Amino acid sequence: MSLPSGYSIRPVKASDYKRYLEVLSVLTSVGDVSPSQFEKLLDHWAANSLIYFPRVIADAEDNVVATGMIVVEQKLIHGCSKVGHIEDIAVDKSQQGKSLGFLLISHLNSIGEKEGCYKIILDCSPKNTGFYEKCGYKDSGVQMAIRY
Ligand code: ACO
Repeated sequence: MSLPSGYSIRPVKASDYKRYLEVLSVLTSVGDVSPSQFEKLLDHWAANSLIYFPRVIADAEDNVVATGMIVVEQKLIHGCSKVGHIEDIAVDKSQQGKSLGFLLISHLNSIGEKEGCYKIILDCSPKNTGFYEKCGYKDSGVQMAIRY
């Protein structure tokens, strides 16, 4: 399985601002984020580049069509091991069903493996468990949350 011709997976960049927010809005409410807030966040991710790996799939015109990230958490347990967290996966509505989600997750998994993660975990709604099973993930318990 491979990306459509001309498509690529690359790190997010400042000029992705508009499309990045638009694509993410298929996942959840993005809220008001200004271009300067976006750039500041990208700077923060870049300054912590061994923790945050924000990636996009861009089409042949370099427009963002999918977003996702792996966050690599350095732990103490299991002999100072690392755990990867998959976050904010979104594929533009018009591009869903073309294996982009699968290819993005595979790419993020490879980053996690290369960075030495002993496992990669994620939270998702029940309607998406079938997708993640296709990506090789297994049900591994219950998510709990407290919201403020
Ligand atoms: N339930 C069951 N199977 C699914 C689902 C689903 N919801 N979505 C896709 N699949 C299957 C496909 O049929 C395909 O199977 P096949 O290989 O047998 O043909 C396989 O999973 C791969 O599908 P893709 O085409 O790669 O999926 P797509 O590119 O459409 O991306 C995604 C799936 C990310 C869930 C997309 O629909 C989306 O962006 N949804 C809205 C946002 C969202 O819910 N994101 C996930 C948040 S969870 C998180 O961020 C950790």
